[in-house]
Amino acid sequence: MTLLGLTLLAAQPSRAADTPDPAAGRTIAESGVLTGHVGCSACHLMNGAGQPDVGIPRLAGFSAAYLEQQLGFFASDKRSNSWMAPYARMLTQKQMQDVAAYYASLPEPPPAENDPASDTVRARGKEIFQKGDMPHGVMPCGGCHGPAGQGMGSFAPHLAGQSAPYLLEQLRQWQQGKDRDPMGKMMVTETHAMADADMQAVAAYLQSLPAPDTGATK
Ligand code: HEC
Ligand code: HEC
Repeated sequence: MTLLGLTLLAAQPSRAADTPDPAAGRTIAESGVLTGHVGCSACHLMNGAGQPDVGIPRLAGFSAAYLEQQLGFFASDKRSNSWMAPYARMLTQKQMQDVAAYYASLPEPPPAENDPASDTVRARGKEIFQKGDMPHGVMPCGGCHGPAGQGMGSFAPHLAGQSAPYLLEQLRQWQQGKDRDPMGKMMVTETHAMADADMQAVAAYLQSLPAPDTGATK
């Protein structure tokens, strides 16, 4: 073997270790990383749709950067959650990247169909999302989360099609002043003076939103 060949071989493992591998992530989603523990799909499903009715969030449609960041927060208890902490702690940094890349690569499933909210409620939610409620210090959600709820990288997550019970739970926690994680302060300010009915309305509206027609930044 030539010297050049050897150098290339030696360089390869480190390159592979740096590149997220969605196929390895798929295996983690399917069967987990430790024997005797389920994969992510037991709760979030293989297609990343989550279980909207019971508040298990969807992961398809999110940016890999946001998913990886949140896994890091769960693992270090910066985002405290008893469901997610054990699963996040099982993963190495590389496995977090891989599984984030897998879920980020999936097409978005259509919104859940059995949404009990009325059209009037969703219309109010749309108004909040697009215009905010300035007298109560509520800025338009779309300003940070993207006009179609598509999210902005690791900064503000994807919201379109997300489980309404999950969204409402997050909003209520922030309204009660709990930071959630180091990125959460903005949402504490945002929800401070929001009426519960408006949080319900915006959650219902967001769950009903179909996959944003991208080209837009995730
Ligand atoms: C036993 C069920 C369960 C399993 C297994 C599970 N999760 Fe979760 N996951 C949840 C729940 C419940 C939440 C919502 C936590 C909350 O309310 O803050 C969540 C939240 C998340 C979030 C945050 C989503 C957001 O919008 O901020 C990510 C990312 C995530 N899970 C990824 C994973 C990955 C990757 C795996 C596999 C390694 C996994 N989960 C395994 C139940 C589970
Ligand atoms: C000034 C920017 C900004 C505005 C305006 C804003 N958000 Fe956020 N939002 C964020 C950031 C940043 C995060 C990430 C917080 C974290 O990681 O803890 C976030 C997170 C969220 C989440 C958590 C999603 C998940 O997957 O866990 C929800 C739900 C949410 N915002 C809803 C809303 C709604 C509804 C509005 C409008 C009423 C709104 N946001 C307005 C910046 C904003």
